[in-house]
Amino acid sequence: MAEVLTIALPKGRVGEECLPLLAAAGIVPEEDPRNSRKLILGTNAAGLKLIIVRAADVPTYVQHGAAELGITGKDVLMEHGGEGIYEPLDLRIAPCRMMVAGRKDAPPVEGRLRVATKYVNCTRRFYAQQGKQVEIIKLYGSMELAPLVGLADRIVDLVDTGNTLKANGLMPLEHIADISSRLIVNKAAMKMKHARVKELIKLIRAALDKLA
Ligand code: PRP
Repeated sequence: MAEVLTIALPKGRVGEECLPLLAAAGIVPEEDPRNSRKLILGTNAAGLKLIIVRAADVPTYVQHGAAELGITGKDVLMEHGGEGIYEPLDLRIAPCRMMVAGRKDAPPVEGRLRVATKYVNCTRRFYAQQGKQVEIIKLYGSMELAPLVGLADRIVDLVDTGNTLKANGLMPLEHIADISSRLIVNKAAMKMKHARVKELIKLIRAALDKLA
């Protein structure tokens, strides 16, 4: 019997954007995840299933081996830390940048900078590398609001077109990282299920080249 492999796919837009890539790699879910509420989906490929999870949870499933492979944003990986995980492929899906941003009309900050973000670990690391201690305020979304209502002096967030910053009177100040979706692999599975995992990575890499 074929060894079973599981790929953790993120819910939502990025997950949907992965479907054509998987299809080009010959992997088609038995039900369309856009219409199904099932969290485990079989595929046309023998011994290959998909699990549908929150993007931020993908590295956790892969780190613990509940899925051998996964697809998630570089931002999520950086925030998770990447322990127990390889990152063999940049899928070039949902490219954007992680940036520090602030108000265009901001007065100079006295005392410790207050930074609002959902990327607490990335933010702490970024400022620590500059030798700066900042106060980090954890938010779960709509970070752009924080400097407008006096909650924070800066935000760390993803910027794509820059329209959200502009619409809220903010401007990008510092570049932290280029972001896009990555294929990730559990390190132990890479050893224990080497042939199958390698074959799958090869198929997805070929599909990427085909779609480029
Ligand atoms: C992201 C990000 C910004 C926005 C940037 O939010 O957090 O708010 O997109 O895009 P732009 O530069 O093209 O305006 P998203 O809509 O993905 O939702 P989120 O707040 O749930 O992350």
